[in-house]
Amino acid sequence: MSSPSTDHQSLSDAILAAEAGQPQSVALAGPARPVLRELVIGGALRRAWLMLENERPITRVAVRPRDAAQVPSVFGILEDDHRRLDAMAAEMIVKGAEDPAVALTLGHDFVYGLRRHIRIEEELLFPIFDARSGMQGQGPTQVMRAEHRMIERELDRIVKGVEAHARGDAGAWRDVVEAVGEMEGVLGPHNMKEERILYPMIDRFVAGPEQAEVLARLVLWE
Ligand SMILES: [Fe+2]
Ligand SMILES: [Fe+2]
Repeated sequence: MSSPSTDHQSLSDAILAAEAGQPQSVALAGPARPVLRELVIGGALRRAWLMLENERPITRVAVRPRDAAQVPSVFGILEDDHRRLDAMAAEMIVKGAEDPAVALTLGHDFVYGLRRHIRIEEELLFPIFDARSGMQGQGPTQVMRAEHRMIERELDRIVKGVEAHARGDAGAWRDVVEAVGEMEGVLGPHNMKEERILYPMIDRFVAGPEQAEVLARLVLWE
């Protein structure tokens, strides 16, 4: 039987595996945040990236290899999250036409993950950028927010599409593929701008003890 204390053990095992280069997906028996808080405060982000994968129907945490030579950073964890989400969308497109159940699971995980990623940026990180750059929401974060709205329109289509596909709707899969294509057209350049400009500047703005605090809030974000 699994229990919240075995969650700590499962995540600790997954961190060891991630340090050996193997990304893990850990299903938890209890709520994610208490155990994640304990691990993050204990320095787990120096060993692996931790990211909530989904909370329904079960709670799962992605535990992913990171470059051990670099200090944990906003750039590092969110660049990795871009890669994680890209891979999930690609896997959904490869497997989903033939397997609607897989399309449904991957589609829901992908949309949950990208929506949460966008909330973290807009509610936690962009306000830091705006306040400290002195741009007050008029600079690059305004462009990023507008692109998020375009991305979210396609995420709605993806959710509806994978659900209809799972119900046996014959035309639904084509709409999913089209929505993913439209989304990628915006998301590719969007991610690149964040990785080259916004994330490194945010890391500079919070350099020092504040950076660890921002990273902990990011991992635990509701
Ligand atoms: Fe973004
Ligand atoms: Fe992003």
